[in-house]
Amino acid sequence: MTQEKPKILLKFEGMPNGRALKTYMAHSGYEALKKAFAMSKEDVINEVKASGLRGRGGAGFPTGLKWSFVPKDMPGPKYLICNNDESEPGTFKDRHLCSVSPHMVIEGMIIAGFAIGANKGYIYTRYEFQEEIGQVEAAIKEAYEAGLLGKNILGSGFDFDLDHYTGAGAYICGEETGLISSLEGKKGQPKLKPPFPAVSGYLARPTIVNNTETLANVPHIILNGAKEFRKYGSEKSPGTKLFSISGALGKPGVYEVPLGYSWNRFLNEEAGGLLPGLSLKALIPGGASAPLLTPKECEDLTLDYECMAAKGTMLGSGAIMVIDNRQSMVELLRCTIEFFAHESCGQCTPCREGTGWLNNIMVGINDREVGADSVDRLHLVSKQMGGRTICALSDACAMPVMSYVQKFSDELKAHLAKG
Ligand SMILES: Cc1cc2nc3c(=O)[nH]c(=O)nc-3n(C[C@H](O)[C@H](O)[C@H](O)COP(=O)(O)O)c2cc1C
Repeated sequence: MTQEKPKILLKFEGMPNGRALKTYMAHSGYEALKKAFAMSKEDVINEVKASGLRGRGGAGFPTGLKWSFVPKDMPGPKYLICNNDESEPGTFKDRHLCSVSPHMVIEGMIIAGFAIGANKGYIYTRYEFQEEIGQVEAAIKEAYEAGLLGKNILGSGFDFDLDHYTGAGAYICGEETGLISSLEGKKGQPKLKPPFPAVSGYLARPTIVNNTETLANVPHIILNGAKEFRKYGSEKSPGTKLFSISGALGKPGVYEVPLGYSWNRFLNEEAGGLLPGLSLKALIPGGASAPLLTPKECEDLTLDYECMAAKGTMLGSGAIMVIDNRQSMVELLRCTIEFFAHESCGQCTPCREGTGWLNNIMVGINDREVGADSVDRLHLVSKQMGGRTICALSDACAMPVMSYVQKFSDELKAHLAKG
């Protein structure tokens, strides 16, 4: 696998006036859209399928396949939603992408809308991203003024309207059906699947929800072809990926590297390595909901879906959090559990009660008010929270907790033993 580092998604990063439509168009911007309009909808979907693009929102579901689930002959409106909620703790790549290249996301959305037969799209962004919200809205305005949105785009006969919607800043609204409920003006609570949104989503109409980064990959795939996209990454994890990395590092930030890239190289070359005198204690590779890895497990780690799964964790949205030797796992776990307990929407008992119980136990451990068997109880409660709820928030809390207990129970118990 090539360890070359092309800048595809972040090619406008650092470019003067890089966000502007004029700059985007001067570098082949909206050429993919023209190409898509000359293709059939099926061919656009087939090209995305052939590229092997996997959703960048966390689950890595094949994008072309998801698009093909939208019923073709169903009359009436269909919708496309860009999930720009970016709610996973540790993730900050979508906001960066929107800030650097909002037109790449918009172009990807128009192509996706064309392919699935949707004439209306929404970008759903969390409230906290005030700066990026302004940037996205400005780009939408530019696109309308240039005739790239609205009626009969570029004389193609295809209409596509795009609105921006600001969420209130809730983790659960990143989950696609919670997001749809929120967009419908209801409480942001997830819905049972099936039916999947592709068949019955926003306003009970066929709806595709894709992550911001997923959609931003689409212009490159259509303009340059699936083969070119597959030049980077691995067979099962093709393309480049944005990773947001945080911790006590020389250069924390957002970086684009091919999937399958070496973790050690990423840490040292992109992120500038750990600050002098520090060592790696643990790695959270895919946001707070990803089970953590020990330094030993990181030795041969590569940044792709398969390697992460083989190590019992997940790539998630590419939110890498580096935990150095000064950090307390008690404090880290306490904060993590508190977050999930706060963000549970409360619909499902295993999640509502489970996250609450974990929080009570963990506060007890932190305050040294419980016995050492409480550490095992964290595991016992977590084990009963997975796979039993409407959405995966419950699992997102249980999975990391089990990994902390499995790998750092000595530290948790030593904390209690201090008395
Ligand atoms: C609790 C929870 C939070 C989520 N938050 C996000 C998010 O902030 N952004 C996102 O794109 N996907 C998020 N997802 C995944 C979405 O439900 C959905 O799978 C994704 O938007 C699909 O896009 P993709 O196929 O392009 O990855 C979340 C899932 C869960 C269970």
